[in-house]
Amino acid sequence: MPQRVIDAIADYLSRNNANSLGAYHTSRNTDRMIADARSAMGDFLNCAADEIVFGPNMTTLTYAMSRALGRELRPGDEIVLTLLDHDANFSPWKALEEKGVVIRTVNFNEADCTLDMQDLAAQMGDRTRLVAVGYASNAVGAINNVAEVVRLARQAGALSYIDAVHYAPHGPIDVRALDCDFLVCSTYKFFGPHMGVLYGKREHLKRLHPYKVRPNTDNIPNCWEWGTLNHECIAGIKACVDYWEELGRRVETGLAPSETRQAASLQQGRAQPTVTTRRAAILAAHQAIHEHERKMTEKMIAGLLAIPGLKLYGISDPQRLENRCATFVVRIDPHTPLELATKLGERGFFTWDGNYYALNLTEQLDVERQGGFLRIGLAHYNTMEEVEQLLAALREIV
Ligand SMILES: Cc1ncc(COP(=O)(O)O)c(C=O)c1O
Repeated sequence: MPQRVIDAIADYLSRNNANSLGAYHTSRNTDRMIADARSAMGDFLNCAADEIVFGPNMTTLTYAMSRALGRELRPGDEIVLTLLDHDANFSPWKALEEKGVVIRTVNFNEADCTLDMQDLAAQMGDRTRLVAVGYASNAVGAINNVAEVVRLARQAGALSYIDAVHYAPHGPIDVRALDCDFLVCSTYKFFGPHMGVLYGKREHLKRLHPYKVRPNTDNIPNCWEWGTLNHECIAGIKACVDYWEELGRRVETGLAPSETRQAASLQQGRAQPTVTTRRAAILAAHQAIHEHERKMTEKMIAGLLAIPGLKLYGISDPQRLENRCATFVVRIDPHTPLELATKLGERGFFTWDGNYYALNLTEQLDVERQGGFLRIGLAHYNTMEEVEQLLAALREIV
């Protein structure tokens, strides 16, 4: 977490800690701070501030939305889910079976662990009301063609619900361009505090009826936010978006990588920095992150595949790296994922073992009973040297 996020949380607590909507200055400061954070998240996702809902995490927000959407559904209505998704974009929708809703599941291609788009199209029909799909898999790292998913959903007259939790630190999100109905993410995944954010199209946030207490407002987005929010973390969210913005501005002024792109824009006679808005700066940060993560991904995949007995699940073809992010799951039999993660942990490399709630995937690939996978996740603060060190540690352990 960037220091500025930690400082913003502490600063809010020490100077403004108050509930919202009070008639005194710390409360008014709190209201202003929440409004600023909403508009910052609006720039992060490319939507209006009143389409941003804050909540404790993605799972809670998704359960809230599944309850509300469930009020509109009739027995026999269908929801399309995928076996590639984190369970937080599966179980909250599957719970609607108790109302007679029919769940249809989309498979993935076992060879490269990518979503089977043909199967997705085949699962859609007259009764499809919602399609819930992840932007990127938190296990195998596959990036789904969510624009096409949204298009198919719209064609079928269904709503789309995109889980962008895993994608958000790795790629830019544009809910307007996607034209999705809902999109959720968790700020702790992109260097902010432990909180969730839901984007909902204004028309839906207004039309749907959230379960809520009577004194709470009927106005959006607040009617979707239950009880007292985590104000200090919302202050952290604003600082988190500031971090992204600063990163993008530094990229543009040459204080960080991406000289190639700068040189290209100079050649095209665009000598002026292109970053004029916060949104543009966020996109510039994403571009630099993408270039850096891609180089690390190439190195990581080549190094992993050279380890005897290692099986990498997911895209490994260097020509297809645009379709994956820097998240890798492997098995190295007879070592269990727990054993590998423990030994790596002892050497200072913090990796995950198990299913990380991508339960359908580990069950389908029949690794759930054998401890799931070892997952290695990279972010933009990792270095090429760290990739080399991790690969050396893994070789030594094996
Ligand atoms: C892809 C994906 N979706 C959903 C979640 C759940 O998010 P949260 O912890 O904010 O409920 C996670 C958490 O790891 C995730 O990786």
